[in-house]
Amino acid sequence: MSNTYPPTEAQAKRAHADAETYAKMYSHSITDPEGFWAEEGKRLDWIKPYTKVKNSSFTPGNIDIKWFEDGTLNVSANCVDRHVETRGDQTAIIWEPDDPKDDAKHITYRELQGHVCRMANILQSLGVSKGDRVVLYLPMIPEAAYAMLACTRIGAVHSIVFAGFSPDALGARINGCDAKLVITADYAPRGGRETPLKSNADAALLHCKENVKCLVVKRTGGQTTWTDRDYDYNELVLEADDYQKPEEMNAEDPLFILYTSGSTGQPKGVVHTTGGYLVYASMTHQYTFDYHDGDVFWCTADVGWVTGHSYIVYGPLANGATTIMFEGVPTFPDAGRFWEVCAKHKVTQFYTAPTAIRALMGAGDDHVKKHDLSDLRLLGSVGEPINPEAWTWYYNVVGGGNCPIVDTFWQTETGGHMLTPLPGATTLKPGAAQTPFFGVKPVVLDPQSGEEIHGNDVEGVLCIADSWPGQMRTVWGDHERFEKTYFGDYKGYYFSGDGCKRDADGDYWVTGRVDDVINVSGHRMGTAEVESALVAHAKVAESAVVGYPHDIKGQGIYAYVTLMNGEEPSDELRKELETWVRTEIGPIAKPDLIQWAPGLPKTRSGKIMRRILRKIAEDDFGALGDTSTLADPSVVDDLIANRMNRS
Ligand code: WT7
Repeated sequence: MSNTYPPTEAQAKRAHADAETYAKMYSHSITDPEGFWAEEGKRLDWIKPYTKVKNSSFTPGNIDIKWFEDGTLNVSANCVDRHVETRGDQTAIIWEPDDPKDDAKHITYRELQGHVCRMANILQSLGVSKGDRVVLYLPMIPEAAYAMLACTRIGAVHSIVFAGFSPDALGARINGCDAKLVITADYAPRGGRETPLKSNADAALLHCKENVKCLVVKRTGGQTTWTDRDYDYNELVLEADDYQKPEEMNAEDPLFILYTSGSTGQPKGVVHTTGGYLVYASMTHQYTFDYHDGDVFWCTADVGWVTGHSYIVYGPLANGATTIMFEGVPTFPDAGRFWEVCAKHKVTQFYTAPTAIRALMGAGDDHVKKHDLSDLRLLGSVGEPINPEAWTWYYNVVGGGNCPIVDTFWQTETGGHMLTPLPGATTLKPGAAQTPFFGVKPVVLDPQSGEEIHGNDVEGVLCIADSWPGQMRTVWGDHERFEKTYFGDYKGYYFSGDGCKRDADGDYWVTGRVDDVINVSGHRMGTAEVESALVAHAKVAESAVVGYPHDIKGQGIYAYVTLMNGEEPSDELRKELETWVRTEIGPIAKPDLIQWAPGLPKTRSGKIMRRILRKIAEDDFGALGDTSTLADPSVVDDLIANRMNRS
């Protein structure tokens, strides 16, 4: 076992929970979830207080999850208005632009209220009302947060599409939730380059209903075309009223939809609701990051991912925090940008992904050492398991050996942290997410029998035995798919899709996906999605996509491609296919390696044997296992001979 890092006395003293308190609170949360969450729910302001707390069933055929179901509240009132009364002049959002030469913005809670209300009034004037869906396709600018909160103010449901997604992906998501309005910007500057968001949105909207409107925020002032469906935010905002009364929402009214990749076909619209999600985002933000008044919290994610929803906007703002919104990338203008921003804004908690840590570790310690990071108190990691080498560098070089690292395991579906060390309570183990958050009941199941594996030093699939407030409630428009995906394989449990170990001390180590989902730079990608993009190309007959270990990204995308009869492989065609996938899905889905495959290894019944393809992609074909059931075992020799990833 590698080194472990016990909390210091000072950390334990400062933390919201030391080891003893964690143990006591955790046990209370599991033995008496009703009592525990009845108390925690009070962290929010309710319009009508709840009398019922938990009402959930994981029973096959009746998956039904409700929290605080008779309570009413408004999210923007909780994230903005109530802080205006107590800390109106405190900075709510620090916006750090892509280009460090441009000025940062500091938006106070009082100012935020005005921005949110004006945006809410604009939405209303465009015909958006309670329950309507609004798609956001925006850069990381304050208007993204205004738009999210404005939706919650009037009870509209937002669905954010990451600005790196293609027009096709955007169009599918607009149609998928039947959105009334799309909010976008002219351009999205990122890493010194500009993505033409408005023209992407125009391209997407060609495939959408004619009455979908488009609200355009000016970011760069660059040239854009204007159509009949477009509205100019910067003009409308001058006339918009500064106040809008928050809509009274039921705790179980949908708050947002966020599409995420699964192991099959189309991405799923994950639905989170109002009360439980906000209670959970708030509590996890406070405890996991040991948040205290006066701290400056920075989560480097994009609001296009769930991490940005829960830990840039909803969790921090519910807690009256100062949260940083960063428009740029870790390596622009150079690999010191993160540390420069930490020093500039005196960041106290810093939360990023292992892929960024690995990339910055490779750029050398000097980039870090140039900057004064003495305000940092805690570091966080999310998105994939963090390798101990990166962990140790993060701990020693970035954290100066004084900052606990919280390795937070969670998912789009879980709304907030599920497994994480707690600072001041947990003795840290590099590479492990370790302990369940309050209210979370992790179990390790035998993948074959579906039986719980008890005791320690065991391995299996990671499931959760009971509901927690931040849990997704359904798949938008397809509750059956929700049941099947998460509750179909292991009856009575929520299945995470991940494998895990529970070590001799009872700590959890998440080992990665056990389904056909790969994790590229902390982003989830369904191999089926990349495959269907590839076969949509006229020259492609068939394709199989797998992940392979990648030094920086964690996993890279390895595509086996069989061409149509008569088509010849070439470097040009390889480039063409890369560009094709970028346009079909987005840059994050671009295959890292494409191998021309005259044939794919299939069973006699025609099923592709991915196990073999994974091994070849990993350059580990010594142990291919049994290939005797293949229809044509000779294809394997060809694939090995022409493999792309040779170490
Ligand atoms: C998948 C969820 C919500 C966080 C951002 C990604 C993997 C995430 C960890 C971690 C090991 C992790 C899992 C999970 N994952 N965090 N700390 N340790 N694995 O959200 O896109 O919904 O992906 O990311 O495989 O299932 P997501």
